[in-house]
Amino acid sequence: MNTTAMLILSFLHLVISVLIPSTAGNTCRSYCGNITIDYPFAILPGCGHPGFRDLLYCINDVLMFHISSGSYRVLEIDYAYQALTLHDPHMSTCDTIVLGAKGNGFAVEQWRAPYMNPSADNVFMLIGCSAQSPLFQGFPGKHLPCRNVSGMSCEEYYGCPAWDLLGHRMVGSKFGSGPPECCAVPFESIKSVNLSRLQCEGYSSAYNLAPLRLDGANGWSYGIHVKYSVQENDEFCRACEATGGTCGYGTDGIRQLCMCGSTNSTSNCDSVKSSSGRTYSNGNTVTGVLMCLLAWIAI
Ligand SMILES: *[C@@H]1O[C@H](CO)[C@@H](O)[C@H](O)[C@H]1NC(C)=O
Ligand SMILES: *[C@@H]1O[C@H](CO)[C@@H](O)[C@H](O)[C@H]1NC(C)=O
Ligand SMILES: *[C@@H]1O[C@H](CO)[C@@H](O)[C@H](O)[C@H]1NC(C)=O
Ligand SMILES: *[C@@H]1O[C@H](CO)[C@@H](O)[C@H](O)[C@H]1NC(C)=O
Repeated sequence: MNTTAMLILSFLHLVISVLIPSTAGNTCRSYCGNITIDYPFAILPGCGHPGFRDLLYCINDVLMFHISSGSYRVLEIDYAYQALTLHDPHMSTCDTIVLGAKGNGFAVEQWRAPYMNPSADNVFMLIGCSAQSPLFQGFPGKHLPCRNVSGMSCEEYYGCPAWDLLGHRMVGSKFGSGPPECCAVPFESIKSVNLSRLQCEGYSSAYNLAPLRLDGANGWSYGIHVKYSVQENDEFCRACEATGGTCGYGTDGIRQLCMCGSTNSTSNCDSVKSSSGRTYSNGNTVTGVLMCLLAWIAI
């Protein structure tokens, strides 16, 4: 083997050992139907960020999101924008109005609240709320909390075919002295959409990601658009992944840990290697095979 071949081999070893550990051996990444489940989410216990534990379940290739207000189907996870899109089958849309307070609304456990919230461009439209609803308390007769959210309002929602059947009811209360039949609010102003606490018969949730507003309420996307974040800048997980580990958490459900092959570390995989000798990962195996192949070519 000549010097050039040696140099090429050393260089390749360097490139491969830098590239492989971050992509190989992630025992936590998984799929549910066509949805990729990756950090901070996970469906395997001990995987992902502790703020998202016991949250997602894959049932017959359908990804379900479970919080205190109920279960929702996950339509999409956008890792770049850090957002989830959820669907509640008992939510009203432009085509149907579901009454009888069957819908989940949206309320998360207090400990989970810092990690996720419906986005600021998501409107909750509360339908058929009683005049005694906490929604209207403090604002007698004025219905002040009801407003436009990101250009979406009940005025436009009333234009949906679903309202044709209930039209008379809507007109009755809209011009009467009672509360409006529909009240649009951003999540931020109520913090929890609990239909029984708010004394509402139903709700709809919509978001508008298009830069242009097309065909009013008919062009909105119906679902709950939730932003998530891991809060504290995620140094721990980045350091863990950079050393070839997979991010998870301990049995206490609070402390993050780094899974390094056969051992777990409370910092990253470099600390494991230096304390218990070099551990051989998939990355090294691949490098070894490639080195042999290249050596064979070079000879
Ligand atoms: C997943 O599949 C559904 C239909 O089964 C489709 O509507 C959706 O767009 C797909 N999502 C992605 C991210 O490919
Ligand atoms: C490492 O942590 C994971 C997740 O908590 C756990 O399932 C696994 O058993 C742990 N492994 C060791 C060797 O402790
Ligand atoms: C909703 O409100 C009711 C009545 O105030 C309460 O009993 C229930 O626990 C609340 N549900 C959630 C998910 O917070
Ligand atoms: C909400 O915004 C739309 C369009 O910007 C407007 O036509 C409508 O009057 C507004 N409604 C309220 C209640 O402010």
